[in-house]
Amino acid sequence: MTRILKCLVLIASIVFLGLPSTPGFAQSVPELLTPKTPLTPQINGPKVYGVRPGHPFLYRIPCTGTRPMHFSVKNLPASLKVDELSGIISGNAPAEKGEFVVTIEAANSMGKTARTFKIVVGDKLGLTPQMGWNGWYTLYDHPTDSDIRKAADAMIASGMADYGYQFVDIDDAWARKPGSTDAELGGQVRDEAGNILPNVRFPSMPSLTQYIHSLGLKAGIYSGPGPLTCAKFEASYRHEDADAHQFNKWGFDLLKYDMCSYRNLVKEGNLDDLQKPYKLMGSLLKELDRDIVLNMCQYGEGDVWKWGRQVGGTSWRTTGDLGLAVGDSLPGFYSVGLANAALDAYAGPGGWNDPDYILIGTVGDANNRTAPPKATSLTPEEQYSYMSMWSLMASPLLFSGDMAKLDDFTLNILCNSEVIDIDQDLLGKQGKILRKTSLELILAKPLEDGSIAVGLFNLGKAPRTISVDWKEIEKRGRMQVRDVWRQKDLGKFDDTFGTAVPAHGVVLVKVEPARRKL
Ligand code: GAL
Repeated sequence: MTRILKCLVLIASIVFLGLPSTPGFAQSVPELLTPKTPLTPQINGPKVYGVRPGHPFLYRIPCTGTRPMHFSVKNLPASLKVDELSGIISGNAPAEKGEFVVTIEAANSMGKTARTFKIVVGDKLGLTPQMGWNGWYTLYDHPTDSDIRKAADAMIASGMADYGYQFVDIDDAWARKPGSTDAELGGQVRDEAGNILPNVRFPSMPSLTQYIHSLGLKAGIYSGPGPLTCAKFEASYRHEDADAHQFNKWGFDLLKYDMCSYRNLVKEGNLDDLQKPYKLMGSLLKELDRDIVLNMCQYGEGDVWKWGRQVGGTSWRTTGDLGLAVGDSLPGFYSVGLANAALDAYAGPGGWNDPDYILIGTVGDANNRTAPPKATSLTPEEQYSYMSMWSLMASPLLFSGDMAKLDDFTLNILCNSEVIDIDQDLLGKQGKILRKTSLELILAKPLEDGSIAVGLFNLGKAPRTISVDWKEIEKRGRMQVRDVWRQKDLGKFDDTFGTAVPAHGVVLVKVEPARRKL
């Protein structure tokens, strides 16, 4: 080939195939498996929502498709209304317990769609795992009001909210820091009446939560049962009642309650000691006139999954900090995920195992908190595995990377409606481990429609073929298989399905009995 011809071939291959991974060239663009969002309306996210009788209700219908969109809801209880343009449902839940099956309708210039949605007025909150964002892994010890507002804006602008992401959670370091000489953090930590005070980076909590609510999103706050939080800010010890009421008055919808310095108060740490502060906060939150879900953060101590629900937890962290987890041959999230995967028996509507945040995209370094966040070192395959594992485990889907730096690849991981459907499935079952060897992991999650989501994970360094037999998922005969990431039917298979899985990667499929041709 002449030099000119070679050059033309190279340019053409760059245009059509992306950059080659030849040394000297930038890495090839990672493959986006999630198909482009359709322009027609598509309602996403959970199909059920729990609220306590008479309590304020706020739900922004997650819906993708060209805007403007027109929303309406059939059979909506009279105490609720929907905003036609934003799709925000608000008002107060009906005063009596009961189930209200409504039909959400969405229409735009390209078409229309409808989906059934169940509002369950009762005692249980968190009927599906929470979805949202938490600021810890990007903001660490220096969150500000403006960071949190921007994250909320980005949740809308990026489209994440259209897939069901809803919570915007402040983590540690919003309160004052006892003894600090820093003018922004120090000063009196509580007012004369004992009410906890935010530091100057948070000038008005009510105005912040109002802003988040005006977007149809929910706001989360953080404290702990000890005198100090992990970053040594004021926490709730001996002020539990005042704090629960203050968080409610400020308008928060979620409380992450982090054990930290409480440990020093109960050195021996028997089960009673571990349960006591969570029982207390759990019962205080239950008595409020608004719903606040309780995310227990005590790193799985005392087998919290066995009692977290009884003390009022909506979710409970099952392990230490994922950002500090170090892997050997695999990145840290696998070991956290595998430990969490063994706890499938304890998760279900109203109470979820929480293996911690989704740390992808641009994210800070937990070992060097002052360093600017940078692009994740996880390979694309590892990121597909991460999100697949979390969804199969019905884990809360809380992203903790930088909301201002969401790139197409990260959004393709976070916003695949069929992957999210697995996480948010109505049955609320956590997937079971079907096989675990040094090279393979298979997780299987039964879904409400009778199908089974199966994740075939390659834990090895080389691509390999992984198969699942129908016997293993307690099915027989001819089954239809759908590739969930690609949202593509793969065909009908008898007795078994096998496929090539990339190194550290996953193939996530949905398996259901093959339909007969009419
Ligand atoms: C840790 C907790 C993290 C983060 C941090 C804040 O204990 O597990 O998720 O909240 O404290 O200091």
